[in-house]
Amino acid sequence: MRNFLSVHEVENLSQLINNALAYKADPFKDVTLGERKRLGMLFLNPSMRTRISTQIAAKNLGMDAIVFNVGQDGWTLEFEDEAIMSGTTVEHVKEAAPVLGKYFDILGVRTFPSLKNKEDDYSELYINQFIKYAGVPILSLESATLHPLQSLTDLITISETWNYSPLPRRGAGGERKPKIVLTWAPHVKALPQCVANSFAQWVNAWEQADFVITHPEDYELDEKFTRGATITHNQDEALKDADFVYIKNWSTYNDYGKIYCNDPEWMLTNEKLALTNHARIMHCLPVRRNVELSDEILDGPNSIVTQQAGNRVWAAQAVLAELLKTKKQ
Ligand code: CP
Repeated sequence: MRNFLSVHEVENLSQLINNALAYKADPFKDVTLGERKRLGMLFLNPSMRTRISTQIAAKNLGMDAIVFNVGQDGWTLEFEDEAIMSGTTVEHVKEAAPVLGKYFDILGVRTFPSLKNKEDDYSELYINQFIKYAGVPILSLESATLHPLQSLTDLITISETWNYSPLPRRGAGGERKPKIVLTWAPHVKALPQCVANSFAQWVNAWEQADFVITHPEDYELDEKFTRGATITHNQDEALKDADFVYIKNWSTYNDYGKIYCNDPEWMLTNEKLALTNHARIMHCLPVRRNVELSDEILDGPNSIVTQQAGNRVWAAQAVLAELLKTKKQ
């Protein structure tokens, strides 16, 4: 694995999930793999889980991790080619990226989309500039359209829960594939499509689930990520017999970055949960309580959102280990 940007860099997804679960069972089993190697973590946007879990993962592999918050700690970066830098940007990525490439063995980068220019966002303008100019492997800590470390975490969480869940269910344990539902939820802000795109991409690539996506009209995602899933505007129908329900808001993709319908009826409640097969409830966090997801669900026995967030460490550790092994070859 030379870079980690999406599921396309993963040669064997089931193996990567198993590697992550092996790190969960024995976090320090490869503590010398990253000895004398440095991970840089560049944040152009805020983070709690990605930042801390990836630092812990690096430490478990014997690496040093240095975090750099571009907006607060450093010069404002310019990404446009041939920009006349007479405005607020101070340093071009053409200098910043190769400098960082000299300091670090692996460079993690978190960017977000503008939600204004679909073409720029969906061409991954920012992270691709780091790939072009840094000269070291790039680890996506979330990009304009995808959040691969989150999606790997999600599959790790589904795998371990499906195999070892104490919750009642019918026909589980290898007899059938789990039914996984990704449902849109209301929000007060226009949010990126990254987590939903990425979850769809990874579940489709995994091929070990019956996968349904439900959202109101006008919230269609890019087909290149959702192809393979069943898509419906009827949330109740989608939830029927679901084993896992992944809740996430996203803004519109076609008429880019807008909020159309924001119907509170789309928020998951215990009444809706009763339609499912005692589904485990997932969310990438942070979550807006009683807007995106109700207290009764988040505080109830079916929520696995903190288990899910805890697994961020093992996803990051499995991916860093792959990047380190490729570098050594
Ligand atoms: N889920 C996630 O990426 O969380 P942070 O924004 O806190 O990193």
